[in-house]
Amino acid sequence: NSRGWDVNDPLHAGQIEAARAPYAQKAYAVTPLLADGLAQEGGETLEIRNPARPEDRLGTALCVTPALAAQAVEAARPWAAPVAERRAVLERAADLYEARHGEIFALLAREAGKTWRDAIAELREAVDFLRYYAARAEQEPNGPLGTVTCISPWNFPLAIFTGQIAAALATGNAVLAKPAETTNAIAFLAMRLLHEAGVPRAALQLLPGTGREIGPVLTGTPGVGGVCFTGSTATAQGINRVMAARLAPCAPLIAETGGLNAMIVDSTALPEQAVRDIVASAFQSAGQRCSALRLLYVQEDVAPAIRKMLFGAMDALRIGDPWQAATDVGPVISAEAKAGIEAHVAAAKAEGRLLKQLRPPQQGTFVGPAVIEVSGMADLTREIFGPVLHIATFRAEELDRVVEEINASGYGLTFGVHSRIDSRVDALVRKIRVGNIYVNRNQIGAVVGSQPFGGEGLSGTGPKAGGPAYLARFTRPESAPAAE
Ligand code: NAD
Ligand code: ALA
Repeated sequence: NSRGWDVNDPLHAGQIEAARAPYAQKAYAVTPLLADGLAQEGGETLEIRNPARPEDRLGTALCVTPALAAQAVEAARPWAAPVAERRAVLERAADLYEARHGEIFALLAREAGKTWRDAIAELREAVDFLRYYAARAEQEPNGPLGTVTCISPWNFPLAIFTGQIAAALATGNAVLAKPAETTNAIAFLAMRLLHEAGVPRAALQLLPGTGREIGPVLTGTPGVGGVCFTGSTATAQGINRVMAARLAPCAPLIAETGGLNAMIVDSTALPEQAVRDIVASAFQSAGQRCSALRLLYVQEDVAPAIRKMLFGAMDALRIGDPWQAATDVGPVISAEAKAGIEAHVAAAKAEGRLLKQLRPPQQGTFVGPAVIEVSGMADLTREIFGPVLHIATFRAEELDRVVEEINASGYGLTFGVHSRIDSRVDALVRKIRVGNIYVNRNQIGAVVGSQPFGGEGLSGTGPKAGGPAYLARFTRPESAPAAE
């Protein structure tokens, strides 16, 4: 895995500061990057904003029109280079990503609100995806699907954007990449590095645009041989319907979606360790991770002590501009996201269930990390994508009921358990139906190659990203020619 940088090492911190500095105020004019011969122009423009600093205007992104998106589908050409060459190009791209870390870190902070720690982890993950899929492609016997549409979310604007593309390219597909509306500049930079590394333009096109406008073209057009989507469950269900209705051969959909992720802390857990991991799981990245902890079940007899320690640990969190190295919790992505999260917190407050909320900065789209009391999973009707933790208590004899509740949510992304009873942990691992289970640690930040990541049920179709089964879904079976 990529070595990354250590924020606590003054040498590394100084290097990051220096590398980022030239990009502190850089403005961007994002355009579509389409195959040669296509008009490199677009329709409406989207503002690129800094969620922490309204006065920091990053520029604009030009969207492709649906008509131009349809032309891009036609112009796409699978990457016919031998696998060894594709591997070399993707590895060169990984090196370029690392070399350009200054601009990448600057953009991750300014456009996506990523703290230093999150930005470093994100760049490492993107680099890991490039190198991992490039290497694994050499063991993949099958042929490409053809043209694959890759649709990514804003919360991992570099890592997931790159991971989807890398998998599709490593297996020889052409890619139509549609980044999220709020993170076009990061996608544009990544795209230019991939082209600079040697990926042909017809094999990799960037199509900025809103999902509503160009999504149906990129998922429903006959020339699209497969769709790789990461985002909300509702959007995935809509794409599924469009793909099912299209008058073309069936095409596969990989969908990695949201979760209502739980953690169980029993009375044998080490409180200091559990609290540290609860804080990281619920509030790191301002809770804007699909893997983030949403519902904590604490055994009744330790609940008062855990709550007290948790509230103390929350008081130590520094909420603010992610450009500063000391910031623990940055902004949420947009004013719309902030309003939705705050409405949820306000409703809980009105019902007397808000146990704690930190005060956020007034400028920018910040939400103070909050803790809400609930009776169980049934009280969580939707994924609240921000720094909001729900807490319920249980008695030892109710553990089976808790497991049933978690499984009944229909989601199945991550689950955490803190306990020193091995047999209890083993039983939970057997019974809880989710993609990724974390024992006596936090439940975020899966590592490419060693912790393949992805959910089941409403949380996704699989295969797990960063794991050995991923690439096969970007291919169609081919028989090897019979030996002479
Ligand atoms: P979103 O569903 O709103 O958007 C995701 C992408 O889909 C964006 O690029 C958007 O433009 C596009 N889109 C929207 N409508 C479309 C349509 N009709 N057709 C085609 N594309 C369309 O999600 P988001 O708000 O960007 O991301 C947050 C969500 O992503 C959360 O629910 C989170 O849990 C989930 N997520 C899941 C994973 C995972 O690995 N399981 C990882 C990160 C985020
Ligand atoms: N892979 C990301 C995580 O594990 C989503 O947090």
